[in-house]
Parts: sequence; C-alpha cells; structure tokens
Amino acid sequence: MILRIPQMLTADDIAHMRERLAKASWVDGRVTAGHQGAKVKANLQIAEDSQDARELGAIVSHALERNALFLSAALPRHVYPPLFNKYEPGMTFGTHIDGAIRQIGQQRIRTDISATLFLNPPEDYDGGELLIEDTYGAHSVKLPAGDMVLYPATSLHRVTPVTRGARIASFFWVQSLVKDDSERSLLFDLDRAIVELGQTVPGDSAAMLRLTASYHNLVRKWTGM
Ligand code: NI
Repeated sequence: MILRIPQMLTADDIAHMRERLAKASWVDGRVTAGHQGAKVKANLQIAEDSQDARELGAIVSHALERNALFLSAALPRHVYPPLFNKYEPGMTFGTHIDGAIRQIGQQRIRTDISATLFLNPPEDYDGGELLIEDTYGAHSVKLPAGDMVLYPATSLHRVTPVTRGARIASFFWVQSLVKDDSERSLLFDLDRAIVELGQTVPGDSAAMLRLTASYHNLVRKWTGM
C-alpha cells in the first residue's frame, strides 16, 4: 500500500523547521546508506546525532503520534527517529532498497514501512520525484509541504535528479506491529470502513459490534509480538 497522509505538519511547524534547517549543517548523505545504496546516493543530510536532527525529529514524532491516519495505516511498534535530507541541483538517489534492519542505540528495528515527509513545496524545485516500484510499475510521488507518503519498505525506489532549486524532506522507517503489507492494508481498509460507517450506524448495533470485534481479533491474529 502506498498512502498519502495530507497535512501531517501545520504551516507553523513547517516554517519553524525550515528556518532551523536553513541554518543547520549538512553532511554527505552516504553516512546512512548501506553498501549498495552508497553507490547510487548523492544527497545531503543532517547528522543523525546532531541537536538539530533530534529536536526537529521530535516535532515530526509528535505529529505522528496524534495522526489517526498514520496510526491506522502503520500500526507502529517502533518509529525510527526522523532524519532530514536535501537534494540540490545534480543530486539524486538511484534505485535501491532500504536496509531491512536499522540500529537505534542498542535496539534493532526491522524496517517494514518507509516514509517521506515533504518539507518544501513542489514549485521550489524541478525533478526530485520519489519513484516507488510495485507490481503495477513505478508510482511518482511529489507532494505539497507538510504531506507525507508511506510505502512498503520492501519496494525498490529512487529519487530522480533535482535540476533546479532544492528538495527538502524528512524520512524515516517504521517497524509495524503487523509485518506483512497486505495484512496491514486489509486492517487499514477495515478500520477506515468502520470509522465511516460509525458516522451513520450506532456504535452499539450488533453488526457494528461484530465488525469492530473482527478488526480487533484480526489485529490479535496478525501482530507478531
Ligand atoms: Ni530509500
């Protein structure tokens, strides 16, 4: 499932983050790439252990915690501390797969879902599309500032070269309570349908109770913990 989550951040959050990012120090993006990724990656990142990354990452993490669409779609178990990247003219990230395991201190997390949160508007730059491959081909994603895309970390993907301006984004991974993308998609559809039905059908109706029970019992069945 490739899912757009609109307006993850408020305009105030974005303005504050962009001001901080303009003053931040950027390093070669290959620091977080694996062996294959490093060969095709050419961008800039904020150092993972910098104060800027920690404080700006916390803003993103808080926004994630209160976003119903994200929680329903990702069923997060662990969220990797959000990172920040920038592509200037000539920069690109060729086709790659994100590493399956990432380390946070002593903890290892499995990357089930990849996320990109766009921090500046598409008018600011040319190129810089995120192309995500699935069985139907490549999907091109370039979103307004504050919007986020979630996609299965199992997908090959790339960022096309930026030819004008700069593309600034936050990116991170999620280990989900439900490892399998198709199971997560079913749960997400079911949850959304229950929420929608709840606007007209009383929550204590027998059918609604059974549907809600089915949702929770499927979560019980499919959570790998
Ligand atoms: Ni990637």
